[in-house]
Amino acid sequence: MITLADNVLRAEEFVMLRTKVGLLETPVEQAQKAIDNSLFVVSAVHEGRTIGMGRLVGDGVMYWYLQEIVVLPEYQRQGIGTRIVKRLIRYVEENGIAGTKMTIGLVAAKGKEPFYETLGFTMLPNEVTGAGMKKYLQL
Ligand SMILES: CC(C)(COP(=O)(O)OP(=O)(O)OC[C@H]1O[C@@H](n2cnc3c(N)ncnc32)[C@H](O)[C@@H]1OP(=O)(O)O)[C@@H](O)C(=O)NCCC(=O)NCCS
Repeated sequence: MITLADNVLRAEEFVMLRTKVGLLETPVEQAQKAIDNSLFVVSAVHEGRTIGMGRLVGDGVMYWYLQEIVVLPEYQRQGIGTRIVKRLIRYVEENGIAGTKMTIGLVAAKGKEPFYETLGFTMLPNEVTGAGMKKYLQL
């Protein structure tokens, strides 16, 4: 059985999961700070092994962003990514201020847009919003 666990992700697992799906390898120190500064972190666990993750960053009231939604390749297409994102959305619903509007944003990896569309996200640009943008920095 695959279970979801809240706020237990370790930095080493974060690094391992990222590299296993081809994302840039982050130093453990950076990973730890990224976890510590997240609003909410979900791990997917199978037989004691962390096989997926997802986290929420943002201001915790108006702007929430999904980061590092990752499921190990051998566990993909079994609905685990969907469970992770739904858990993150539920967190927003439970922790936002009642009666206010807010947005959950993300930058999809190339080709992963259909996954997020199944969860109610829509593509940018649209009639009111321009394209998402990024600036990369190397210190
Ligand atoms: C994106 C990712 C998290 C999806 O996780 P997952 O557990 O495989 O997703 P699910 O099984 O919940 O998929 C639900 C639906 O989303 C869609 N979907 C999922 N992966 C997809 C893909 N690679 N391409 C197109 N549609 C996809 C399908 O409609 C799928 O339903 P189906 O399997 O019945 O066809 C996973 O593929 C992953 O970790 N990829 C590598 C890391 C990455 O790119 N993360 C996203 C960073 S923005």
